[in-house]
Parts: sequence; structure tokens; C-alpha cells
Amino acid sequence: MNSFVSASAVTVSAGQDAQEVVRLIDVRRQFGSTAALDGISLTVPKGEILGIIGRSGAGKSTLIRCLNGLERPDSGEIYIEGHSIGRLDEKALQPLRRRVGMIFQHFNLLSAKTVEDNVALPLKIAGIGKVERLRRAHELLDLVGLAAKARSYPSSLSGGQKQRVGIARALAARPALLLSDEATSALDPETTRSILALLKDINQKLGLTIVLITHEMEVVRSIADRVAVIDAGRIVEEGKVWSVFANPQATITRSLLSGIRPKLPDHIAARLSPATGAAAILSIDLAGPEAEGSLFADLSAALPHSFRLVHGGIDHIQNQPVARFFIAVGVRDATLQGKVQHFLEARGARVEVLGYDTDHV
Ligand SMILES: Nc1ncnc2c1ncn2[C@@H]1O[C@H](COP(=O)(O)OP(=O)(O)OP(=O)(O)O)[C@@H](O)[C@H]1O
Ligand SMILES: [Mg+2]
Repeated sequence: MNSFVSASAVTVSAGQDAQEVVRLIDVRRQFGSTAALDGISLTVPKGEILGIIGRSGAGKSTLIRCLNGLERPDSGEIYIEGHSIGRLDEKALQPLRRRVGMIFQHFNLLSAKTVEDNVALPLKIAGIGKVERLRRAHELLDLVGLAAKARSYPSSLSGGQKQRVGIARALAARPALLLSDEATSALDPETTRSILALLKDINQKLGLTIVLITHEMEVVRSIADRVAVIDAGRIVEEGKVWSVFANPQATITRSLLSGIRPKLPDHIAARLSPATGAAAILSIDLAGPEAEGSLFADLSAALPHSFRLVHGGIDHIQNQPVARFFIAVGVRDATLQGKVQHFLEARGARVEVLGYDTDHV
């Protein structure tokens, strides 16, 4: 059953997948000379957690505001659960907004209302009776681990507790989609982890679809299934989190991920020169089973004493091993570097020559 808009107010596009919670087709939004959204097409299947990353001003908040009807696109189509929302008037948008919950960086709780009344507020607005809305509020406070704080006021809560109330309130009307705009940015790392664990738990228990915007790559790494990178209003890269983190293609993605992926230590990077020195420094990126296999043992057996491990390690993202290593390869034998590179590439690694070090292998 889909009860959020009357049949006359929507167009259900033929061929829309019922399992698709969000579909954007060529969405554009211009502010003066700034194209905040410059032709965004995107789908989010039911139950997925999609992370959206991008520099400040890339268009992330504009995109999320289009998804809950706070912002109107100039052109393009936006479907939520198969219903086109782009052209709905304010009244017709009201039921839609109940299908979309949102959490914010600064929680946006009403300080004059108790925790239970904050959570129940969307239901009050929807015309649900007091007994029923308080019953639902307590159920949700239980879900977010705050049953004991129902009668407290927001000012007596910690940041993490406030965000739990924000999450409970966002879920009050049983939305199909939860939007999060920097919801953990104001929290310390430990509280962030507990909020992320709660979001993942809700995603799995309720099958809730989540779109989250963040500048914290760690947030995407730990809970998102897929990631979309947006730059100057366009999606420049999109894919499974482990795959994009293992092998970022766009320059902007590499730059955004630089803090979370192993990088050559500064004192070694400072010694590198483009001219041939004693050893070539290579970066090696590899994901999947080979990444935690016997790659280096095999390289050592095939080409004894050809290389030295310099830096790096193996991460696990979405249960996939993702490796990034730096090695030094001696260049006294002019053919050695090519042989090492060939060996690694034949095993599926992406190899890049970063420069030459005066240090010997
Ligand atoms: N209401 C508005 N009026 C004018 N310009 C706007 C408006 N909203 C957004 N913009 C502009 O559109 C672009 C995208 O803004 P948006 O807020 O979507 O970026 P963002 O990716 O969320 O950035 P941040 O990471 O800093 O939050 C920016 O250049 C911004 O200045
Ligand atoms: Mg923003």
C-alpha cells in the first residue's frame, strides 16, 4: 500500500521498479550563475545506505533538500517510491514529507518540549491522537535506547542523546527514506560510532533506505553500501564503497579519500625525484582475495631480493580486503622494475611509479 499521495496528484512512471526508493533523472537547480545541481541522475534501491561526498559547495545539501521537497529543481524528475514529486504543490507535498525523515547536524529539537513530545511532534502534525502518538514515541525511544529520557528536556541531554532523539523523531511517521545531512559532524568519534551503529541497526531491522551526506570519509567507510561523489553539481564517480575506496578514479575522489588511505610517509615523499635514483618507489592498489593472499611472498619467490616493503596495509571494507602498499624496487638491474610491475599487474594490482629514491634496496 502506498498512502502518501492521492492518485490524482502524482504520476507513476511506467517501468519504475517498486524496490527503488529514489530515482533522479537529470535534476538541475541553478542559483544565479551557480549550477548547484547540474544534471544529477541517481537511483537508490530499497534498503541501501548511500553516502554522498563532495567538497564544500558541491551541491550535496541542495540535492538532499530536493529529496524532501524543501527545494524545487528547475528541471528533471524526482521519484520517491515511484511517485514523481517535482511538480507537486505544497499541499500535495505534505504526505510525501512523511515518507521522508531527516536528521540534522544540530539536531533541531524544540527545547521547550520534552523528548517524547519532540518525537511525537510529526505525528501530532499528521493528526494522530495523543495516546497513539505517545505509544509510538515510546516505542521509538526504546529503539534508540532512550526510553528512560522520555520526560526529560533536550537541554539535559548529551549531543549523542540529542541525535538519538532526532533519529526517533525522523522515524515517527514510518518513513521509507531517511536523509542525513552531516548528522554526526558535531559529535566526538566515539559518539559518532554509536550513532552510526544505530543507523545501521535501523537500516537492517526496518529495511530503511538511507541517504547520508558527510565530509567524514570514515562514516561512509563504516556504514554505506554505495558512495556517490559530487563535484560542481555533477556526479563524478559512483560505486560500491569498497570498490571506490580501493580504486578512486576522479581527482576529487582521490583528494577526499587521501586522509583515510595509506600514503607515502612525508620524509620519504620529500626524497623522491623524477630522475632515476637507486630505487623506484611504487604504489600498489589491490582489492579482493588477492589483496590478502600471498602476493608479496610470490613476488619474492619469483624475483628474489627485488623489492623492499616501505609502507601500507590491508583494510577491510564491506568485508572486502582492500590493500594499498608502497614498495621500493632496486634499479641496478634496468629490467627489474618492469618485471616487478608486470608481475603485480598480472595479479590484478594497479601499480604507479611515484618517483625515485636515493636509498638502495
Ligand atoms: N538558497 C541559495 N541561494 C543561493 N545560492 C545557493 C543557495 N543554496 C545553495 N547555494 C549555492 O549552491 C552551491 C551548492 O550549495 P550546497 O549547500 O548544496 O553545497 P554543499 O555541498 O552542501 O556544501 P557544504 O559541504 O559546505 O555544506 C553553493 O555554491 C551555494 O553557495
Ligand atoms: Mg551542505
